[in-house]
Amino acid sequence: MTLLEIFPSLRDGGMTPRLDPAIWPRDTHYDGDGRITVGGVALADIADQYGTPTYVLDEGEVRGRCQEYRKRFPDAEIIYAGKALLTRAVAEWITDEGLSLDVCSAGELAVALAAWADPRRIVLHGNGKPFAELETAINCGVGRIVVDSPTEITLLSALANRPQRVLIRVTPDIDVHGHPAVRTGVTDQKFGFPIGGQAVWEAVDRIVRQPNLELAGLHCHIGSQIHDTFPYGEAVRRMIGEMARIRDEFDITLTELDLGGGHAVAYRGGDAEMNLAELADIIEDSLDAACARHGFPRPRIALEPGRAVVARAGVTLYRVLSVKHVEDGHTYVTVDGGMSDNPRVALYGARYDAVVVNRHPTGPHMTATIAGRHCEAGDILAHDVRLPADLRPGEVLAMPCTGAYHHSLASSYNGIGRPPIIAVTEGRTRELIRRETIDDLMCREMGC
Ligand code: LLP
Repeated sequence: MTLLEIFPSLRDGGMTPRLDPAIWPRDTHYDGDGRITVGGVALADIADQYGTPTYVLDEGEVRGRCQEYRKRFPDAEIIYAGKALLTRAVAEWITDEGLSLDVCSAGELAVALAAWADPRRIVLHGNGKPFAELETAINCGVGRIVVDSPTEITLLSALANRPQRVLIRVTPDIDVHGHPAVRTGVTDQKFGFPIGGQAVWEAVDRIVRQPNLELAGLHCHIGSQIHDTFPYGEAVRRMIGEMARIRDEFDITLTELDLGGGHAVAYRGGDAEMNLAELADIIEDSLDAACARHGFPRPRIALEPGRAVVARAGVTLYRVLSVKHVEDGHTYVTVDGGMSDNPRVALYGARYDAVVVNRHPTGPHMTATIAGRHCEAGDILAHDVRLPADLRPGEVLAMPCTGAYHHSLASSYNGIGRPPIIAVTEGRTRELIRRETIDDLMCREMGC
C-alpha cells in the first residue's frame, strides 16, 4: 500500500513538494504514486527502460520556449544556437517553431541539413573556420557567415562563386563579469574585431570590394548566462554607433544587427534568470534612441539564444551507486554518471539540484554532495543537495535544467559512453540519440 493510498489528500497537492517551475519543464508533476513525470512519462520508467545515466528532453518545453521568444520579439529573427544542444529532432522542432539556426562546425551543419533545415536560414559562426568547412557551408548555400578574422575574408573571397551574405563579428567592449570562459564582449580576446578600431574598418573595406561578398550587418555576443538586461541596451547603442560610422565612412547602410545570445536560466531555485519581456523593452528603447541619435534606419534585430531554449527542457537521470558518510560529516552520494555527461561543474563551477524520482521526499533529510564515478576528486555533479536521509543505492535521481551544454559538451572520459537522449511528449518517449556503447568506443581502434 502506498502512502497516497493511506493519505489520499496527498494526491491533490496538499503535501506535494513543489518542483520549482523555474528549473523544471513546465509539464512536470508528481503522479498518483508519488513519481515524477515529465511530458506525461514517469522518469522512473524511463530509467528502467533506457538505463542510466540518461538525458530526458521535453519536446513541449523546447517548443514552448521557442514560442515565447517569437511572442516577445515578434519583429526579430530568433536564431537558435545549436551549440547548446543539436540533434536532428531538436533542429526539426526549432525550425518548425519558426526559428533560424546557428551552427559553428561542419558537424553541426550536417545535423541541421539532415533535419532538412533551410540552408538560407542557417548562420555559420566560429573564430577559426577551416577552409573545407567554409567551402561546405558556401556550397550548401548557408544564409550568412559571421566573419571573425581577416584570413577568413581572404578565404571567403576565393570560395564564394555567387553572392554570399556575411556579418562582421564585433566585440563591443562590454564586460558582463561572468565566468571568464564565456566573457566574449570584451576587446582583448579571441573573437571578433574590436569596436571602433582599425581592424573593423579594414574588414569592411575588404569585404565591400569583393563582388561576391555582401555585407549585411554586424554581430556581437557579449557573453553567456547574463541575467541583467542593461548590457544588451548598451550593446545596441554601441553597435548602432558603429553601423552609423560605417555608413559615414563607406556610404553603405547595414540592415542587420545580430545581438548574439547569452540569456541566463536558473539552475537552482532562486537563481536569477533573464526576463525576456524586460529584455525586449530595453532592446526596443535602446534601438529607438540610438537610431534617432545617429539618424540611422532601424536594422533587423537577430537574437541567438541557446541555453534559454533548451536548458529547462532537460533532466538527467542517474542511479545511485553508493551513499557514503565520511568522518567530517559530509555525505557523498555517488551516481553512475559524472563529468563525462556534465562537465559544467568542473568547468564553470555550475550548481545543480537533484531529487529522487519515485517517492515524495516527506521524511527526514540529509544534505549531500552528488559525486560522479570518474577518477578525479573534482568529479562532482552537485553540492549541498537535500536528499532523503534513507537514500539507498539503486534509487534514481533526477537533475533538472540539464538540457543545454550537457550532451554537447559530453565526452567518453574513462571509457564511459555518452548517455542517450530520450524525448518525452504527451506521455510518449522517443529515443533521439542512443547510448554510446563499448563497441562504439572500440570501433575507432584501428586494427582490432
Ligand atoms: N551566439 C554565439 C556566437 C555564441 O558563441 C553562443 C554561445 C551563443 C550564441 C549562445 O549562447 P547562450 O544563449 O547559450 O548563452 N559551455 C558554456 C556556454 C558557452 C557558450 C558559448 N557560446 C556553458 O555550459 O555555460
